[in-house]
Amino acid sequence: MIEEVPVIGALSLLTLVQHLNEEEPIPPFSRSGRPNFEDDRPVIGQDLADVRGQEHAKRALEVAAAGGHNLLVSGSPGAGKTLLARCLPGILPSLTPDEALEVTQIYSVAGLLPADEPLVRRRPFRSPHHTVSHAGLVGGGPSPRPGELTLAHRGVLFLDELPEFGTHTLDTVRQPLEDGVVTISRAAGTTTFPARVTLVAAMNPCPCGFAGDPERACTCPDGAIRRYQRRLSGPLLDRIDIHLTVPRVS
Ligand SMILES: Nc1ncnc2c1ncn2[C@@H]1O[C@H](COP(=O)(O)OP(=O)(O)OP(=O)(O)O)[C@@H](O)[C@H]1O
Ligand SMILES: [Mg+2]
Repeated sequence: MIEEVPVIGALSLLTLVQHLNEEEPIPPFSRSGRPNFEDDRPVIGQDLADVRGQEHAKRALEVAAAGGHNLLVSGSPGAGKTLLARCLPGILPSLTPDEALEVTQIYSVAGLLPADEPLVRRRPFRSPHHTVSHAGLVGGGPSPRPGELTLAHRGVLFLDELPEFGTHTLDTVRQPLEDGVVTISRAAGTTTFPARVTLVAAMNPCPCGFAGDPERACTCPDGAIRRYQRRLSGPLLDRIDIHLTVPRVS
C-alpha cells in the first residue's frame, strides 16, 4: 500500500542472510499498478435512492458531501431528518490514500481497527447519542484515547436531536470545528488529536416539533421555542454553512 517502501520477498532465512551480506541480492517486488485504496464493499446505511421527494434536501446533502460543508437539518417529527443524514455514507467521496492512512492510524491507536480490515478505506460516519460523555466525545482516559470527534476525522460527525446534547457538549464541539484538532489537557501534559469533521446535525424546530408545520399546530407554551433554540449558541450555528428545513412528505 505504501509506494515509498520497497518490498523484498525472501524465500528462506538463508537467502535473506545472503541478501543482507550483499552476496546474492533479491530484487525488490515490483507492483502491478497502483495500490487499491478504493472501497468496493457495499455501503452500510440508507440509500439516497430510497428517499421519496425531498429534492432540495438531497441536493443539500450532495453539496455537503462534496464540499465537506457542515449541515443542519430542521423539520417536524417524521420529516425524514434521520433518514436523510443516514444516507450520507453512500455519497461521501472516497478517501485519498494519505487520508486512508491517517484514519487508519487513528483507528489503530483507538484499538478499533477491525481484524479483517488492516486499512480503513471508508470515510468515517459517527453518530454518538446525545448522552455521550465529555471524554467519549473529545477523547480521554489516563493515556488519552481518541473520542468521537477524532474517530470522525476526515468523515462525518452526525449529531441527531442536536439541542438534546446540552450547551456544555455543544461548546466542546465548536472549537474543533474551527481548528480541526482537539486538545486534551491533564496534569501529565496535553495531547492533540486530529478532528477535521463535517458536522451534520438534525433537530426539531421546537420542543413539540411542529412549529412552522403547515398541517399541525405547534403546542409549545410561550417562550419555550426561544428557550429551546437558545440551547444552540450563535457561534456554533455560525459554523454551519447549510441550514436546511425539510417538510414532511405525504
Ligand atoms: N422522503 C421519505 N422517503 C421515504 N421514507 C421516508 C421519507 N421521509 C421519512 N421517511 C420514513 O419515515 C420514518 C420517519 O423518518 P425519520 O425517522 O427520518 O424522521 P425524523 O425527521 O428523524 O423524525 P424525528 O424528528 O422524530 O426524529 C422513517 O421510517 C423513514 O424511513
Ligand atoms: Mg430523527
